[in-house]
Amino acid sequence: MDVELDRLWPRPAPRLSDEEILDAIDGRCLRMNFVSSIDGAVTRDGRSGGLSGEADKRFFGLLRRWADVVLVAGGTVRTEGYADMRVDDESARWRTAHGHTAHPVFAIVTGSLNLDPASAIFTGAPERPILITTEQAAARHGHRFAGLADVCTAAGAEVDGSGAQVDGSAIAAALRSRGLERTLCEGGPALFGALLQADVVDELCLTMEPTLEAGGAGRIARGATGSRSMRLMSVLQSEDTLLLRYARARESCTS
Ligand SMILES: NC(=O)c1ccc[n+]([C@@H]2O[C@H](COP(=O)([O-])OP(=O)(O)OC[C@H]3O[C@@H](n4cnc5c(N)ncnc54)[C@H](OP(=O)(O)O)[C@@H]3O)[C@@H](O)[C@H]2O)c1
Repeated sequence: MDVELDRLWPRPAPRLSDEEILDAIDGRCLRMNFVSSIDGAVTRDGRSGGLSGEADKRFFGLLRRWADVVLVAGGTVRTEGYADMRVDDESARWRTAHGHTAHPVFAIVTGSLNLDPASAIFTGAPERPILITTEQAAARHGHRFAGLADVCTAAGAEVDGSGAQVDGSAIAAALRSRGLERTLCEGGPALFGALLQADVVDELCLTMEPTLEAGGAGRIARGATGSRSMRLMSVLQSEDTLLLRYARARESCTS
């Protein structure tokens, strides 16, 4: 049985159904999703999985059910060991019944194209993955993914000598131009920073897990400069876990 999620705000309601949650998050937008400890750590033992409880997993599954495309940075793909992008059977049935592909497209942002073409990301993909990279990287390494992925080049620049970074607005434009309008970005922090710098993030879903991690773990975003105001859209609760949804103050999703 699914772990219970109650809505605290707005309009308190107990034991939300999947449909109630999906109705609330519907709409076209670029939505970030992160899990964090109360003191702001995004990893335990170097990965996010250690932080994520049952309520976060249920909500995470519903966000994927909603998405046309799941967008992830090369760094997080490697650290978290992503494989082929598939939702569970119930989500696949729901998506098909609602006129979507059974599984979302997997889009990876990488300045190095340091990914294994033999990985299940490519060999087991139900939908052709998209690699968003720079022209230099595509020219050097793009051939390794011929027939396996849509290698998309976008404007980029060298950042702090740490390699070529694709511009956040070019990432959003690349997805929109392919008709992918419901974007779920699962991180990580450097990619969030690039998207924030371009101010293309519409929403943030943040699960606060009831732990204090201390240590040296990073925050959910890094690299971008400037402050951006957000508006609280909803607060869900499951025991000691809070699931917060914020929209960029300038606008929200459009359905
Ligand atoms: N708590 C959470 O919800 C959550 C979510 C996601 C990740 N995480 C954690 O965050 C950590 C990963 O963080 P990270 O510092 O590696 O950040 P990241 O954003 O996952 O990855 C950074 C790397 O991804 C690629 N990349 C990201 N943005 C890019 C851009 N705009 N253009 C081109 N390439 C780009 C680059 O690698 P290449 O060019 O070499 O591909 C870059 O070095 C992991 O420990 C992961 O577990 C936590």
